[in-house]
Amino acid sequence: MKILVTGGAGFIGSALIRQLRAGQRAEIVNVDALTYAGNPESLPGLDDDPGYRFERVDIRDRDALERVFRDHRPDAVMHLAAESHVDRSILGPGVFVDTNVVGTQVLLDVARDFWEGLDDRPDSSGLSARERFRFHHISTDEVFGDLPLDAPAFNESTPYAPSSPYAASKAASDHLVRAWHRTYGLPVVITNCSNNYGPYQFPEKLIPLMILNALAGKPLPVYGDGGQIRDWLHVDDHAEALWAVLQRGEIGGTYAIGGDAERTNLQVVEALCDALAALRPNGPGGGGNGYRDLIRFVTDRPGHDRRYAIDSRRIQHELGWRPAHSFEAGLRETIQWYIDHPEWVQRVQSGAYREWIEANYADRELRD
Ligand SMILES: NC(=O)c1ccc[n+]([C@@H]2O[C@H](COP(=O)([O-])OP(=O)(O)OC[C@H]3O[C@@H](n4cnc5c(N)ncnc54)[C@H](O)[C@@H]3O)[C@@H](O)[C@H]2O)c1
Repeated sequence: MKILVTGGAGFIGSALIRQLRAGQRAEIVNVDALTYAGNPESLPGLDDDPGYRFERVDIRDRDALERVFRDHRPDAVMHLAAESHVDRSILGPGVFVDTNVVGTQVLLDVARDFWEGLDDRPDSSGLSARERFRFHHISTDEVFGDLPLDAPAFNESTPYAPSSPYAASKAASDHLVRAWHRTYGLPVVITNCSNNYGPYQFPEKLIPLMILNALAGKPLPVYGDGGQIRDWLHVDDHAEALWAVLQRGEIGGTYAIGGDAERTNLQVVEALCDALAALRPNGPGGGGNGYRDLIRFVTDRPGHDRRYAIDSRRIQHELGWRPAHSFEAGLRETIQWYIDHPEWVQRVQSGAYREWIEANYADRELRD
């Protein structure tokens, strides 16, 4: 099986590709524009892997995408490419609409043309290439908006009520994917997951930002009172869930994926400080609660949703998936990973990874 993964140089896409290639489950064509969030250094060792190909292509570029589909003839698409950072969407929403909405529409168009041209005669498996094809759209629980503290967790039938420009752009892309299924019959599956954490996450997101600030003895900025609740999902558990949905998910169906780990932001930061105190006792203040002393409460993000939580019973019961990581163990492992990979961190923080990208991928023309 050959999978075209978009956004495979990002945090979740790279975890998915590392996992699929480690288990030799599928050949991969990674289609990524390498924005600031894309980092091929998160895919170590794959350059020499004959089952892996990289295409520096922007999903808004129809001609380039058509060429990629023609050249590689994938059996499935897993669409993760997106602008993904809520704070950036508040400062500059335009590129979020451009990539997440328009880019998804262009990708859907090109995938649909390709799918319509596939052979519809059954082969030895009893199915045709057209029947086997899948378009898997990876989305977020943020499309559901703010969940009251006493309300049951989001599930597959929760109405959409996005709050931020990021969430609205992802909601729009989900609607487009459903429309391409309903109108044109494109065989799609959709997943909406909660906040991911784990290795190789860009340090603008909460957990890596706090780990790296704490290790450097810098303040740990917590929005508002830190009472916002998120349901934390380890990125490797997410990647396993995505594989299960791609393989066995109902066509046209949606699956909500969560980590069964609701925590307030303040609880996350405190847990992280305590784990660091054990792993790096000689940190700020000589250990103990020295890390907790770095916590600073800062002005809240506008429109900040108070709570997200996911009810994953559908994927658990129908597809047999369960998160394998407890939040506390996953957090400890993640902190250890950042401690053990100072070079990756340093190259991201200094911007050196961009120079490497330009030296290695500058030959490809990209849209502005
Ligand atoms: N990180 C989370 O906690 C989370 C939670 C729920 C859903 N999601 C969704 O999962 C997907 C992946 O998230 P992530 O955290 O890995 O994001 P990320 O920001 O780490 O990676 C995004 C990747 O997409 C690429 N990209 C951006 N614009 C592109 C374009 N126009 N053309 C081609 N490539 C482009 C970037 O170069 C980058 O490699 C996104 O669709 C996001 O909405 C993420």
